[in-house]
Amino acid sequence: MDKEKWEPKIAAFVCNWCTYTGADLAGTSRIKYPSNTKLIRVMCSGSVDPVFILKAFERGADGVLVSGCHPNDCHYNAGNFHARRRWDFFHKLLDFIGIEKERLQFSWISASEGKKFADVISKITKDIKSLGPFKAYKQMNSEFTVNFPEYNESSNSINKELQ
Ligand code: FES
Repeated sequence: MDKEKWEPKIAAFVCNWCTYTGADLAGTSRIKYPSNTKLIRVMCSGSVDPVFILKAFERGADGVLVSGCHPNDCHYNAGNFHARRRWDFFHKLLDFIGIEKERLQFSWISASEGKKFADVISKITKDIKSLGPFKAYKQMNSEFTVNFPEYNESSNSINKELQ
């Protein structure tokens, strides 16, 4: 694969009150940044469940960004502190299972930081581009898929006993 031509897919979970507004500011200020990122607006970075991140990878993301308000600026007081604790643990977990930690990045971006938003998106796009496509999770996922036998009424042993 030609890494120069390949464009990564990045999912970004952004908090409604800060980072999403920062992204809006970047747009209205006409700051240019790569278009590889799909924004998923959440009410708070603290509401980003690790399962959302795994799902993003499973559905084809090569990288994931989670971004919210700066510490002590969270609209819900402590949501971003909870998020930070979760991220820390999740990062270690990714490292433990052998997935490059750079595929998951975190940032604090306020509503007035349009330029920072553009810089963060440019950086993650560059980082993911250098890592290449992410296939490990999809492969892992198919290895661990359990195929349950087809259920039908006649094969149900309880049903047979009752007859
Ligand atoms: Fe923005 Fe909580 S509201 S991180």
